[in-house]
Amino acid sequence: MNQIPLLPETAPFNTEQRAWINGYLAGMFSFAGGGAMPGLVAPPAQKEPLLILFGSQTGTAEALASKIAKAASSKSFAPRVLCMADYTKVDWKSEGRLLLVTSTYGDGDPPDNAAAFWDFLKSETSPQLDQLHFSVLALGDTNYEKFCEFGKKCDERLEALGAKRVHARADCDVDYEAAAKAWMEAALAALPVAALAQSRQGAKEPDPSSLGDFASLRETTSPEGYCKTNPFPAKLIVNRKLTGDASGKETRHFEISLEGSGLEYEVGDALGVCATNCPALADEILTALGCDGEEAVPVSGDELPLRKALLQHFEITKIPHDFLAAVAERSADAGLKAMLDPAKKDELKKFLWGREIIDLLLAHPAAKFTPAEFVASLKKLQPRLYSISSSPKAHPGQVHLTVAQVRYESHGRQRKGVASTFLADRAGDAVPVFVQVSHGFRIPKNNDAPMIMVGPGTGVAPFRAFIEERRAIGAKGRNWLFFGEQRAETDFFYREEFEAMLAEGTLAKLTTAFSRDQQEKIYVQNRMIEHAAELWAWLQEGAHFYVCGDAGRMAKDVDAALHTVCETAGGLSKEAAVEFVIKMKSEKRYQRDVY
Ligand SMILES: Cc1cc2nc3c(=O)[nH]c(=O)nc-3n(C[C@H](O)[C@H](O)[C@H](O)COP(=O)(O)OP(=O)(O)OC[C@H]3O[C@@H](n4cnc5c(N)ncnc54)[C@H](O)[C@@H]3O)c2cc1C
Ligand SMILES: NC(=O)c1ccc[n+]([C@@H]2O[C@H](COP(=O)([O-])OP(=O)(O)OC[C@H]3O[C@@H](n4cnc5c(N)ncnc54)[C@H](OP(=O)(O)O)[C@@H]3O)[C@@H](O)[C@H]2O)c1
Ligand SMILES: Cc1cc2nc3c(=O)[nH]c(=O)nc-3n(C[C@H](O)[C@H](O)[C@H](O)COP(=O)(O)O)c2cc1C
Repeated sequence: MNQIPLLPETAPFNTEQRAWINGYLAGMFSFAGGGAMPGLVAPPAQKEPLLILFGSQTGTAEALASKIAKAASSKSFAPRVLCMADYTKVDWKSEGRLLLVTSTYGDGDPPDNAAAFWDFLKSETSPQLDQLHFSVLALGDTNYEKFCEFGKKCDERLEALGAKRVHARADCDVDYEAAAKAWMEAALAALPVAALAQSRQGAKEPDPSSLGDFASLRETTSPEGYCKTNPFPAKLIVNRKLTGDASGKETRHFEISLEGSGLEYEVGDALGVCATNCPALADEILTALGCDGEEAVPVSGDELPLRKALLQHFEITKIPHDFLAAVAERSADAGLKAMLDPAKKDELKKFLWGREIIDLLLAHPAAKFTPAEFVASLKKLQPRLYSISSSPKAHPGQVHLTVAQVRYESHGRQRKGVASTFLADRAGDAVPVFVQVSHGFRIPKNNDAPMIMVGPGTGVAPFRAFIEERRAIGAKGRNWLFFGEQRAETDFFYREEFEAMLAEGTLAKLTTAFSRDQQEKIYVQNRMIEHAAELWAWLQEGAHFYVCGDAGRMAKDVDAALHTVCETAGGLSKEAAVEFVIKMKSEKRYQRDVY
């Protein structure tokens, strides 16, 4: 099939003009492709311009934006998908229709590629948007206090700027598929269309099934059909402790074979692990419920034995709100009930910290559940993501992971993180996996560009992959790794590999920060400040700056240190340092993979 020529983004037309001309070209082209006589050609079908703007860290909102565009173009729209980072490409004074899809990170913050857009939108000088019709799809996770907060902020701000909300915002939890699809269908139907398009009565409405399958958005599907909803049962070939016996932590290196899966990945991608729950915990829950596990319960339209459902389909550790409310109700515990008051959220948070479902069941035997009621109050078990720590060029057919084990004691019980301990203790030789493509966490396209990588703890994972990749392709750009952990003696992950890379020159610099090897804490950001002049010189030479690891504290502190380097070594004012860092982000020279 021939390609329909479309105007480039840079063509000097506004959105309406561009859409009209593109429609015209499409009409011309269908004639050129063997249609009717020139004089008899019906006017080209005019499609209505629609901007679909996404903010996304790990690709969910981005993939959804593409799905929405596909559905929109099967209606009467000419959709244009843009990342929020490219908001300057929009003529905000003339844009008429907007569907905004975004996730939330951190403390109700925008994802990285939405930060500059948010600065623009919330600024006092942002334009009036009276002509704009919009709707917002917010992605989030109810486990976070500020659920869908950034989507909410965008929704409110667009309205405050005069834009007209044509359909109510949808706030989606991690199992977003059904809610996102319902929002999309309603929002597309609610957007105003001009008279011309409305007169195209009889234009066939798309079959709802053609609006796309929202179930397989975040991951690639291999030619063999393996994806998030059909994970590949991969063989675990290596399960090795990276930390020494005297370490305060347990971090492991896993090697997994992708042989026979058809799955491929690039450095910067993540591996999704579909773990199952700990059988001993499932059995304790069954005993507390007074069940034998054979009771049939509904699971996604099917019926399964309760024990299987608890092992494979539901989160059985973290206490979901619905379960807490049900226990409070059934046990008539006034204290629990009181904590459900939104005004008591701090008290509730404190109560929930370190407590799991089993604790509530044991503490409130008066709260009786039928098996079906119990599972109805639980959340669906979600896959966990792990940054891939290998290059496929260095380890063909394999994928490596670097995983910190979540094991702790609370309220007198030993607790285990679901996926990290599944990999370490229970995987046997079948680990159900899928590849999640990273959208924007990539080595520089320019092989000569320097790279600065800040990866304390398991944050080092993608950087092992980056460095292996650069060595495999013979990239000449210099590589500088900042690594931090508690103690050099027991926690220096991949020490021999990195030292060998340093000796051969693949790594130009390796800077370490062992936080507990001395009286005062030393973190990677302290080392950045110590090396400020050199770091600034690398940035001036076009270095790309990467951060991976803990989102809660480390990534924020490293960001602050980067600003400090710009001020102290670069001589920039506070404001100029902020501008410099924003520019690095917009040039995709500052990328993060934080969790
Ligand atoms: C894009 C991305 C990349 C990632 N890459 C990596 C990686 O390379 N390596 C890696 O190790 N992880 C990585 N993670 C994190 C990983 O996905 C999991 O979240 C992590 O392994 C924990 O999962 P789990 O199932 O073992 O624990 P879960 O069952 O999810 O339990 C974790 C929960 O336990 C509770 N908890 C933990 N410690 C305590 C404590 N001391 N006291 C009380 N409660 C506590 C907290 O509520 C915490 O949320 C990544 C995450 C993302 C989003
Ligand atoms: N929410 C939390 O409280 C919490 C705590 C720990 C880990 N985690 C999570 O646990 C997972 C695995 O963690 P990990 O084992 O990879 O490593 P990590 O806990 O991030 O530790 C790696 C190194 O970073 C240091 N560190 C602590 N705070 C830091 C800060 N503000 N800035 C820079 N460095 C800092 C640690 O020092 P010290 O340990 O000596 O302080 C350690 O030396 C991650 O998902 C992380 O987000 C969460
Ligand atoms: C480190 C981290 C922080 C998050 N913080 C929040 C949050 O504060 N509020 C929320 O509703 N969701 C939060 N989420 C959940 C994401 O918004 C959600 O998974 C979303 O679907 C991701 O979409 P994306 O892949 O397009 O970025 C967080 C997820 C991660 C990994």
